[in-house]
Amino acid sequence: MNLESTMQVSDADEYLQRTFQSPASIKAGNLIRLWMEDVGLKTWVDKMGNVHGRTEGINPSEKALLIGSHLDTVIDAGKFDGSLGIVCALSALKVLNMTNRMGRLRRPVEIIAFSDEEGVRFQSTFLGSAAIAGVLPASALHVHDKSGVTVQDALRENSIETTEENLLELKYDPESVWGYIEVHIEQGPVLETIGLPLGSVKGIAGQTRLKVTVRGSQGHAGTVPMNMRQDPMVAAAEIIVLLEGLCKQPEQYLSYDGECRASEVQSLSGSLVCTVGEISSWPSASNVIPGQVTFTVDVRAIDDMGREAVLYELSKRMRQICDRRSVFCKIDRKHDANAVVCDKELSSQLSSAAYAALQRIKGEVAIDVPALMSGAGQDAMAISHLTKVGMLFVRCRGGISHSPAEHVLDDDVWASSTAVLAFLETALL
Ligand code: GLV
Ligand code: MN
Ligand code: MN
Repeated sequence: MNLESTMQVSDADEYLQRTFQSPASIKAGNLIRLWMEDVGLKTWVDKMGNVHGRTEGINPSEKALLIGSHLDTVIDAGKFDGSLGIVCALSALKVLNMTNRMGRLRRPVEIIAFSDEEGVRFQSTFLGSAAIAGVLPASALHVHDKSGVTVQDALRENSIETTEENLLELKYDPESVWGYIEVHIEQGPVLETIGLPLGSVKGIAGQTRLKVTVRGSQGHAGTVPMNMRQDPMVAAAEIIVLLEGLCKQPEQYLSYDGECRASEVQSLSGSLVCTVGEISSWPSASNVIPGQVTFTVDVRAIDDMGREAVLYELSKRMRQICDRRSVFCKIDRKHDANAVVCDKELSSQLSSAAYAALQRIKGEVAIDVPALMSGAGQDAMAISHLTKVGMLFVRCRGGISHSPAEHVLDDDVWASSTAVLAFLETALL
């Protein structure tokens, strides 16, 4: 299998981009499916475009271990975010297959390459993993992208007929699943600072995505006096700067006895991050005061109540700005995922496997495998509604991701695959 080739399959010539059900996503999914078959797995693609590969082990009626990550990417992405987890799982099973041990696994093992974790096309996130966990509402099928194509249309274009009824059938029976593990790049600098390739994950921050629409009065850039404008662009700018202040210093914006308790404010101060990553205006011309501006807001924090308090405060203050500027503002809540705590036992088994892998590769290892928090969203968040989850993080250069500069050393890819192998050998053989 040529791993580099799939990780780089892209819809764009100049940069890496694979969004839900795009031609490149389908091509990457097909390649992954071929590798799964090469490893000796039984494969299928489900009604949400997830690619599955399964081996039954000794006893097909035992609860299965799921191993997954996502095959979609952001725009101008790095090639490891998502793909690495699939590649590691495949490599580990390939070793078991080549050494005639795959059939001796004590329970079924299923690799799932999820179709949508980034949520770039539909602002959805977790379309694939949430469907399997049974937490994707049927209404998700009718959400549309910027060109008006719905999730259902996008699937149909690839000959996948998904209805509200058969979407429900994607849900796995919790009784049939033992647990879920995922390997992912850290997307932060901690492992590089410590000088270790692998860490375990203790929890994943909760997140909310909003779409904010600001409508004003469209007009001529040269003729409308400044004090007569209802300009949605400057209102949006003021809201964005407000958001930065709120998320940098929540304690200065949230009242302790009102929307937020002191403990929540304290935990927010360490983990709260807010981003406006996408903005557009209509009609978007240099000599026109825009009629409408829309932008996205991404809010993340470990404390779910604290995140709610931030959203409440943002909405309250945003309306004050819009009233003062005589523009219309609307907030659509596009996505919510509560923070997740990883399973202690799985995390400890994964830490031991990471330690064993490092010993195999490096000989002596002087320090313990650290336990980190994930600020990034992960498929494990959705799957936590189905079963216990555990994750391993892999060092990436400079902590950079969601960027073409994202990089993982070959040796670290090796270490992470070896850790999955060690986990399977210890837990399931
Ligand atoms: C996914 O990478 C996310 O955290 O947005
Ligand atoms: Mn990502
Ligand atoms: Mn990811």
